[in-house]
Amino acid sequence: MHPLFCSSASNSMSSNKFSTPIHGLALVLLITSLASTTSSCREQEKTSLLRFLAGLTQDGGLAASWRNGTDCCTWEGITCSTVDGMIEEVSLADRRLEGRISPSLGSLASLSRLNLSHNSLSGEALLSSHSIAVLDVSFNRLSWNLPQEQPSSSALDRRHMQMQVINISSNSFTGQLSPATWGMMENLVVLNASNNSFTGSIPSFLCQSAPFLTVLDMSYNKFSGSVRPELGKCSMLRSLKAGRNNLTGTLPDELFNVTSLRHLCLPSNGLHGALDPALIIKLINLVVLDLGWNMISGNIPDSIGQLKGLKELRLEHNSMSGELPSALGDCRSLVTMNLNNNDFSGELGKINFSTLSNLKTLNVGWNNFTGIIPESVYLCSKLTVLQLSFNKLRGQLSPRARHLKSLTVLSLAGNNFTNIKSALQILKSSSDLTTLLIGSNFRNEEIPGDETIDGFENIKVLAMEDCQLFGKIPLWITNIRDLEMLFLFNNELTGSIPVGIGTLNFLFYIDLSNNGLTGEIPAGLMEMPMLRSDTITTSLDPKGSELPTYSGPSPQYYTLGAFPALMNLGNNNLTGVIPPEIGQLKALVSLILGFNRLSGEIPRAISNLTNLEALDLSNNHLTGTIPGALNNLHFLSRFNISNNDLEGSVPHGGQFDTFPSTSFDGNSKVCASMLVHNCHSVEVPKGSTEQGYKVMFAIAFGVFFGLGVLLDQLCLSRLFG
Ligand SMILES: *[C@@H]1O[C@H](CO)[C@@H](O)[C@H](O)[C@H]1NC(C)=O
Ligand SMILES: *[C@@H]1O[C@H](CO)[C@@H](O)[C@H](O)[C@H]1NC(C)=O
Ligand SMILES: *[C@@H]1O[C@H](CO)[C@@H](O)[C@H](O)[C@H]1NC(C)=O
Ligand SMILES: *[C@@H]1O[C@H](CO)[C@@H](O)[C@H](O)[C@H]1NC(C)=O
Ligand SMILES: *[C@@H]1O[C@H](CO)[C@@H](O)[C@H](O)[C@H]1NC(C)=O
Ligand SMILES: *[C@@H]1O[C@H](CO)[C@@H](O)[C@H](O)[C@H]1NC(C)=O
Ligand SMILES: *[C@@H]1O[C@H](CO)[C@@H](O)[C@H](O)[C@H]1NC(C)=O
Ligand SMILES: *[C@@H]1O[C@H](CO)[C@@H](O)[C@H](O)[C@H]1NC(C)=O
Ligand SMILES: *[C@@H]1O[C@H](CO)[C@@H](O)[C@H](O)[C@H]1NC(C)=O
Ligand SMILES: *[C@@H]1O[C@H](CO)[C@@H](O)[C@H](O)[C@H]1NC(C)=O
Ligand SMILES: *[C@@H]1O[C@H](CO)[C@@H](O)[C@H](O)[C@H]1NC(C)=O
Ligand SMILES: *[C@@H]1O[C@H](CO)[C@@H](O)[C@H](O)[C@H]1NC(C)=O
Repeated sequence: MHPLFCSSASNSMSSNKFSTPIHGLALVLLITSLASTTSSCREQEKTSLLRFLAGLTQDGGLAASWRNGTDCCTWEGITCSTVDGMIEEVSLADRRLEGRISPSLGSLASLSRLNLSHNSLSGEALLSSHSIAVLDVSFNRLSWNLPQEQPSSSALDRRHMQMQVINISSNSFTGQLSPATWGMMENLVVLNASNNSFTGSIPSFLCQSAPFLTVLDMSYNKFSGSVRPELGKCSMLRSLKAGRNNLTGTLPDELFNVTSLRHLCLPSNGLHGALDPALIIKLINLVVLDLGWNMISGNIPDSIGQLKGLKELRLEHNSMSGELPSALGDCRSLVTMNLNNNDFSGELGKINFSTLSNLKTLNVGWNNFTGIIPESVYLCSKLTVLQLSFNKLRGQLSPRARHLKSLTVLSLAGNNFTNIKSALQILKSSSDLTTLLIGSNFRNEEIPGDETIDGFENIKVLAMEDCQLFGKIPLWITNIRDLEMLFLFNNELTGSIPVGIGTLNFLFYIDLSNNGLTGEIPAGLMEMPMLRSDTITTSLDPKGSELPTYSGPSPQYYTLGAFPALMNLGNNNLTGVIPPEIGQLKALVSLILGFNRLSGEIPRAISNLTNLEALDLSNNHLTGTIPGALNNLHFLSRFNISNNDLEGSVPHGGQFDTFPSTSFDGNSKVCASMLVHNCHSVEVPKGSTEQGYKVMFAIAFGVFFGLGVLLDQLCLSRLFG
């Protein structure tokens, strides 16, 4: 009996048709008596469907097809049995249905498949149906309206429960999955309850009540407590997913009895303990092991090399340590290896990467790895993401990196690599490369000039910040036509800003701060097409790349999220006026021009930058009055014009009522009720010296913009969103 259920379940999961014997028979019947019998629906079933329709407040056009007086077997989304004309399947996914699911659907006695996924339905989840085998009500607004509304055990009759596949994911269900109700579903093969608000412990009782349970997806809920040892009794389980919950404790030894497991995914919980070398190899069928974002400690056991089918190994953001076992090179199926943000140490060269020919993502950033990049890495020709940032690696990029034809993201940032000129020459012809992060390396080298570098035809993000690079901003940068983000802050670049930067059609994030740039702000910068547009469109794939930004005294890296349109030219030696055309860059969210030698007035046109959240013009030689229209900038939350030669009164109203007096300090001729220095006080000379600027700027930037917390959250939501 049970094997039959199981095989028919896998049948019905893989195709829309019913089990082959019955279907075959039906076909014979149909052919022999085609002229005389046509399936037509029964009046009672039609009435049930019309009740369901009547319960909808928005039917997505269904009423045009579902008309009383016509055969309901011909209605959209309805499939009847060719044998007896009873309704077998209702398939109304993604039909823009709104309203309540009428319990009347539950009275369709032969209904075995119901798919109402991706609508906006509330009401009855139909879990107590006696006929349904495959139920998909995912992506709706279902909830238990009353705590008692869960199908009670009295309403469920174990002998008649057909449920094999249940997908109630992405709804608003709450409460616990109790044995009294869910324990009745002894034919259950797949239960997907992800992305709700279920509480209590993972329903391990299912392992006993539903011996054929194969897939259990409980991720994105509020489950807590430990991973129960009873899960070890789920002897058919292939997929256990419970990431993004509040699970604690260690993985029970019994879990490793489930040798059928292919996917073990428990990321973003509070799990701790180490991977036991003797236990992990029992899961010989593992394809995905995802324990990222927990508190796992210890090292990666040698025995992992015996998991020949392992494709994804995700252990990022834990507290794991030690050297990597060379046996990792035996996991020949590996496609993704993410060990980012642990305390691993030793040389990467311990692994012979040449055997990992399927590897596409290698992320070992934010560890304590030493030595050079092993040459064997360059033999992984399918590599698309290579993330080595923030370790203690040294040496030069090997010319063999040219073999990595599929490389799209390369991050070497925060190591001790040398010879930027050679690195750029090797990488310039990598035609798939979109993101190149090499900041915090190459200390005190000269930025390579135009005679040697061209190419980078697909680069969208280029980060060479914090290297103390000297020289002029080279013109080859202005030829990277797809460039969207440019990070050159914290270098020792001199000369003027190349006009050509203003011609880059997609550039919306430009950070040249903290260099020794001189000359005027080029008028060409005021023409930047993306900053002049209403919305920023980016083709960047946020996955895999981490971009540099400030959060305190040193740069940090964050995954690309909704990076705001930014122009940061702060802490240079720019002179001249702020071009009034700046008012055209209406996409700008941050405009930082502080710590320069700019003169003239604050252009009135800045009040047209209505998206502006941060405006820093501090520590310049600006004169004249503060434009009153600036109080139109409703999103402005950071404002600093301190240490200039401005005069007159501070505008009233709008955001201006929220800025502290430090925003205006050091302008002896500015008066406002809140300022210590009012119009009649004695002029106070500027306090800070040029040498102090760099330090002050770094601190001011970190505190002033507080990007850290915001971006950290973005980063998390991106990784799991
Ligand atoms: C459908 O038509 C039948 C017979 O014409 C009628 O009895 C019934 O009330 C109708 N149902 C609805 C929902 O209009
Ligand atoms: C329900 O329909 C959606 C959309 O067509 C589909 O993605 C999903 O796989 C279906 N569910 C089942 C259980 O077949
Ligand atoms: C719901 O889950 C079932 C089983 O995992 C799956 O076949 C179906 O495609 C899922 N539905 C959607 C809309 O993803
Ligand atoms: C569960 O359903 C979600 C859709 O809500 C889907 O993304 C996920 O892959 C499903 N889980 C399994 C194990 O099929
Ligand atoms: C969770 O459900 C919400 C609402 O249906 C949906 O917007 C969101 O994309 C889902 N998240 C996941 C990870 O499936
Ligand atoms: C997780 O559980 C702990 C106690 O077990 C509790 O203090 C904490 O608030 C929970 N966190 C969430 C996000 O539910
Ligand atoms: C399951 O694992 C536990 C602990 O590792 C062990 O004692 C027990 O014998 C195992 N049970 C089976 C059925 O293999
Ligand atoms: C790595 O493995 C390849 C073949 O699998 C072998 O030829 C090579 O010598 C190995 N390299 C090292 C450093 O062991
Ligand atoms: C990194 O390794 C060095 C020794 O090589 C050690 O002193 C240091 O504490 C390690 N740092 C971390 C964060 O583990
Ligand atoms: C980088 O390497 C050089 C020598 O190659 C060494 O002098 C320097 O201290 C290293 N810097 C860091 C930050 O490790
Ligand atoms: C600006 O120029 C002055 C002298 O010309 C120099 O002393 C100062 O260090 C420069 N500032 C920066 C940030 O480069
Ligand atoms: C602001 O923009 C409007 C329309 O684009 C323009 O007419 C106006 O002159 C601008 N204001 C300033 C002060 O530049």
